[in-house]
Amino acid sequence: MADPVIPEGGFWPAPEIPQPNIYPMEWRVETEKLAAIYERSKRLAWNPADLPWDGLDPDDFTRAQRLGVMYWFSVLANFDASGPAVFARATIQAFEKHEEDPVRKCFFSITRDEMNHEECCQRTIARLWPGGPLDWRPADVLEAAAHNNISWLYHNGGRYWTGYNKAVGKYTLPVLFTSFMMGEMAASTLFRGMATATTHPVFSEMFHRIGRDESRHLQICMTILEKEWPGLTDEVKSTITRQLRAGFVFLSMILWEPPRGFWELPPYFLHNHRVLIDHARDAGLGVLSYDEQAENWRTAMARIRTIVNRWGIAFPAIPELDIDGVNVEVTDPEDIIPVF
Ligand SMILES: [Fe+2]
Ligand SMILES: [Fe+2]
Repeated sequence: MADPVIPEGGFWPAPEIPQPNIYPMEWRVETEKLAAIYERSKRLAWNPADLPWDGLDPDDFTRAQRLGVMYWFSVLANFDASGPAVFARATIQAFEKHEEDPVRKCFFSITRDEMNHEECCQRTIARLWPGGPLDWRPADVLEAAAHNNISWLYHNGGRYWTGYNKAVGKYTLPVLFTSFMMGEMAASTLFRGMATATTHPVFSEMFHRIGRDESRHLQICMTILEKEWPGLTDEVKSTITRQLRAGFVFLSMILWEPPRGFWELPPYFLHNHRVLIDHARDAGLGVLSYDEQAENWRTAMARIRTIVNRWGIAFPAIPELDIDGVNVEVTDPEDIIPVF
């Protein structure tokens, strides 16, 4: 075995790596609890391809019901199918900012889970409405309404993505994570409700599994926030208040109905949305009634309010749900961070 070379005058120090950068590599662990959640996420992995898809028979539904279910999953995809790309970007940022290893790994696990959730949208739509969400030709007025609504929805999804790309680098971890936390709270609430309400075994199993993932995501967000929240400046706190209102405006599209602000939609959108969602409901998908949705959303918001108030963060007014608080106006796509 040859001896190593030791240059005269000692080893040369390598140049400093310009930051932000994913190098140098290190695996720092500060929060054991996050490391444990990551381990659990690996053990609870599931495969959407293994759901009993044969039990989802297009012939069990009327054409309008199939359209309604496809429509609902296309709306869900606005949120769940953006999840992988949104969290992949957040994962890269966590590497570049040298967040501790379990934070990066938990981000990755959320990215992985979201890929499963978007696969559920993909598979359901492929079975019930080949070519959906948009690559098909409407044959009647109802179908034309669905096709047009979905294209408007994705117009807004596109605005969200452009805004998110600009915003993700400028927000700190607590701001980003309060928004994510809200998305996960919304998602776990939604899927818990629908898992109970659906009459179809495939959707029941799907919603139970997704709901369990979303609860874990919520736990990840809470664990990170408990570490990040203490000692926030007033400026960050007011950004968070704004973010909470933005989260409500964005997520209401899937949890309830889209409020004013942010959403750019034609005047007939909401009426046709209701008609199509009624067909999905009629198909046994488990979409709750307007009032049940509002009640669930209100409960979820109350839970978030209790959590943020504990850290001296003011809650925004949500007049749509009779929740009072700080008045905040949200219209800019760059304000919107949440994912499912
Ligand atoms: Fe999630
Ligand atoms: Fe999800």
